[in-house]
Amino acid sequence: MPDITLNRPIPQSQTPTRPQRFLAACRREAVDATPVWLMRQAGRYMAEYRELRQRYTILEIIKTPELACEVTMQPINAFDLDAAIIFADILPLLQGMGLHLEFLKGEGPHIDNPVRTPADVDALVVRPPEETLWFTLEAIRLARRELDSRGLPLIGFSGAPFTLAAYAVEGGGSKNHVRVKSLMMSDPGTWRMLMEKLSTVVGEYLLAQVRAGAQVLQLFDSWVGQLSPDDYRAHVLPWSRRAIEIARAGGAPIIHFGADTAGLLPSIREAGGDVIGVDWRIDLDAAWRLLGEGVAVQGNLDPVALFAPWEQLQPRIQQVLDRAHAVGRPGHIFNLGHGILPQTPVENVKRLVEFVHEYSQRLGE
Ligand code: CP3
Repeated sequence: MPDITLNRPIPQSQTPTRPQRFLAACRREAVDATPVWLMRQAGRYMAEYRELRQRYTILEIIKTPELACEVTMQPINAFDLDAAIIFADILPLLQGMGLHLEFLKGEGPHIDNPVRTPADVDALVVRPPEETLWFTLEAIRLARRELDSRGLPLIGFSGAPFTLAAYAVEGGGSKNHVRVKSLMMSDPGTWRMLMEKLSTVVGEYLLAQVRAGAQVLQLFDSWVGQLSPDDYRAHVLPWSRRAIEIARAGGAPIIHFGADTAGLLPSIREAGGDVIGVDWRIDLDAAWRLLGEGVAVQGNLDPVALFAPWEQLQPRIQQVLDRAHAVGRPGHIFNLGHGILPQTPVENVKRLVEFVHEYSQRLGE
C-alpha cells in the first residue's frame, strides 16, 4: 500500500483549535469543527498494523508498552484524527481476574476456564489494576508523551460489566448469549456477586487509566443490545453506573457506548456518561432527542458504508452531520456506529476524516 500520509507535518493553522475540539465536544461546548475518531481505529485494516502482527501476537503487542504505544500512533500518523485511543483490548482484564485468555486464529477470543458456577465467581480475584494491567497503564504514559507534542488527547477504555460477563461466562464470542443471560435470569445471587466484582475492577481500571494520563474514557458495552429494557434496568444498569461512579473520581469525561441500543438509550443515559455512543440502527437526531438535553452523542455511521465508493459514502457522512446539526445542540463527536472492520479501504478513512472537518466547518458558518 502506498505510504503517502505517514509522518505528515501538522498543518499550522490547526494547532490552536485542534487540542480543544474533542474535549470541548465531550463537555458540550462550541467547536470550530466536529471532532472525529473511529472505534478500533488501530487494527487490521492498516498495513502498518498487519506488518507488526506478523512478528507479534495481539497479546504480545498489548503487553509490551512500546509496541502498544506504536500501534496507538499508527492511525494518528496516517489520518487527521482528533483523538487517539490506547491500543489494548477489553479482555486482558479477565485474565487479571484468573481466566485463561487466548486469541485463536480465525476464531477470536477463547477462555478455557469460563465462569459457570457460584464457586467460579467466588474464585475470581479482584486485584489492583496497577498489578494486573500495568502494561496498558505504562502504554498510556508513553502515548501521552507522543500525543502531547501534537496537541491530541488520549482515550482510555474498558469493557462494561455486562460485556465482560458475556465473555467470562460464554468463554468466547456468542450468537445468542444463552449462558450469560440464563445465569442472569435464573441465579440473581450469583449474578450479583459476578457483577459486583466486575464493576469494581472496571471502575478501578478506568480510574487508574486517568491517573496514568488518559484524558477521556470510553466504556464499551458491545453486547448489551442482547437484553430487554427490563433486564437491562434490573440486572445491568446499576453495575454500569457503579463502574462509572468509581471512574468519575478521575474527572475525565466518560463516553458510554453500546451496540443495538435503540430501545435502551434512556436507560443507558441513566447509567451515566457525558457522551452516549449511538449505533446506526437509529437516526442520530432521533437518538439525541430520545436521550434528552444535557448529554453529548457519538456516532453513528454504519462501518460497512466505508466499503462503498466515495460518491456513495460522502452523502452518508453528510447525513450524519446534517442530523446532528438539525438537533441544534453542541456536543456531537463523529464516529462509526461500531468498530471499523478489517479490509476497510484506507483511502476512504482518510477522506472521511477530512470531509467531517471540512463539511462541519461549513455547517457552522
Ligand atoms: O480502538 C482501538 O484502536 C483500540 C483497540 C481495541 C481492540 N479491541 C484491539 C483488538 C479496542 C477498543 C478493542 C475493544 C474490544 N475488544 C471490544 C469492544 C469493542 C467492540 O468492537 O465491540 C470487544 C468486544 C473486544 C473483544 C475482542 N478482541 C474480540 C471479539 C476480538 C477478536 C475478533 C476480532 O475483531 O478479531 C479481539 C481481538 C482484537 N482486539 C483485535 C484488535 C485490533 C484483532 C486481533 C488481531 O490483530 O488479530
